[in-house]
Amino acid sequence: MVSDPSENPGVTTSGAATSGAALHVIVLAAGLGTRMKSKRPKVMHPVAGRPMLGHVLAAVDTLTPSTVTAVVGPEMAEDQDVRDTIAPHALAVQQDRLGTAHAVLAARDALSGIEGDVLVVFGDTPLITPETLSRMVAARRDSGAGVVVLGFEPEDAGAYGRLIVGAGGDLQAIVEAKDATPEQLDVRLCNSGVMVLDAGQALGWLDRIGNDNAKGEYYLTDVVALARTDGRGAMSVTGDPDEVLGVNSRAELAVAEAIVQTRLRGDALAGGATLTDPASVYFSFDTRLGRDVTIGPNVVFGPGVTVDDDVEIRAFSHIEGARIASGAVVGPFARLRPGADLGADVRIGNFVEVKNAALGQGAKVNHLSYVGDSEVGAKANIGAGTITCNYDGFFKSKTIIGAGAFIGSNTALVAPVTVGAGAIIGAGSAISKNVPADALSVTRAPQRDLKDWAARFNTQRAAEKAAQKKK
Ligand code: UD1
Ligand code: CA
Repeated sequence: MVSDPSENPGVTTSGAATSGAALHVIVLAAGLGTRMKSKRPKVMHPVAGRPMLGHVLAAVDTLTPSTVTAVVGPEMAEDQDVRDTIAPHALAVQQDRLGTAHAVLAARDALSGIEGDVLVVFGDTPLITPETLSRMVAARRDSGAGVVVLGFEPEDAGAYGRLIVGAGGDLQAIVEAKDATPEQLDVRLCNSGVMVLDAGQALGWLDRIGNDNAKGEYYLTDVVALARTDGRGAMSVTGDPDEVLGVNSRAELAVAEAIVQTRLRGDALAGGATLTDPASVYFSFDTRLGRDVTIGPNVVFGPGVTVDDDVEIRAFSHIEGARIASGAVVGPFARLRPGADLGADVRIGNFVEVKNAALGQGAKVNHLSYVGDSEVGAKANIGAGTITCNYDGFFKSKTIIGAGAFIGSNTALVAPVTVGAGAIIGAGSAISKNVPADALSVTRAPQRDLKDWAARFNTQRAAEKAAQKKK
């Protein structure tokens, strides 16, 4: 949720924790994610309308790092969606998946001859916050430790690596669950995977990591013991378990979605919106709401929606890629698709679909209509059941409706077509030629009234039915 443009991560200046020395970020994302049972790479599954990897990169960007490198598998590197999500950050390919330390080394070029800090984060941990990442970088700079690890205490420590902390509170080692003794498995403090390393020594430590362990993998977690061997301290910072949730399955993806939605609903309320039933409203990561916006129950926002002040969105509306100017009322049961651009005080009523259409101030489409590829002038009134016929099976064409025009109910506007300002279209018309301003256009057949026809018909049919029943 973005309630104010100045809060846009892209324009924030670096915080205290990130000023000074250089920060180099490595995002590990090469894992196969087999438990997702998906064709799509795990980190590309969306949470609140954005791939998990996009969330992690956005969090990292707020620290204004010097370099960011995402490590992906060879097939992911060919995937355009993956490339688009990573750009403009660097992409490194890990050919074989030999463990987390091996994955970091795929970004060797970014780690050579650098100073400052290396921050390692996982692409499947979409809920990590910028605040926690800054806190970790600051902790390493303030303490001078060689390695800082983000620890947390999950309800079930399960397969997480355990943080072995000495009497003085220093971090001595990280032991993977598969390699742990029974006593070590009793440790509740676990490794989230997020780590900050002294950049000057990171590559040296990584190159010394071996794979003599239960999984036969090169464990990044071994840097803690190596840093200590070199006389560099290691420490842990404790984080919120919700923030470090790693997504490995669809069930965990749903948990991540629920946590993000709770955050976004909280942001909306804090930003001055009224949500009648917050738990039934679904936001996108980039939904922008003004002040005094009222949102009814069961409203869904897809990506790319901006809502100005004093807008009311009524129950069961679905909105994506739309701009809604102040004072507009949308729904109930309205659908705004990409390119819907509603001017101030516009009214969109029930069972109305708007796509790629700009509606001027005070225009009304109150019932059962489709308005697509259109420009609708200020104060135009579009009657119930009006359809813009924008597609001929091959091409899309445009409908232009002038200011103050009145489109009668059940009109078909066969695009390309223009209705001039102030014109009136008679109900039930099929309009395929331009209508001059201020004209009346009607295309329906003239009405015929056959006197007493219905009465004769009804009498005759009733008699036939009665005769049939007697048989
Ligand atoms: C890892 C940690 C563990 C920690 C847990 C937190 C190690 C050795 N273990 O275990 O201490 O408690 O995360 O969730 O680091 N990846 C690659 N290439 C690889 C292997 C992994 O890019 O060859 C990436 C994955 O895409 C993922 C991340 O690294 O983003 C973690 O890998 P994963 O295999 O899930 O590690 P865990 O066994 O969960
Ligand atoms: Ca994992």
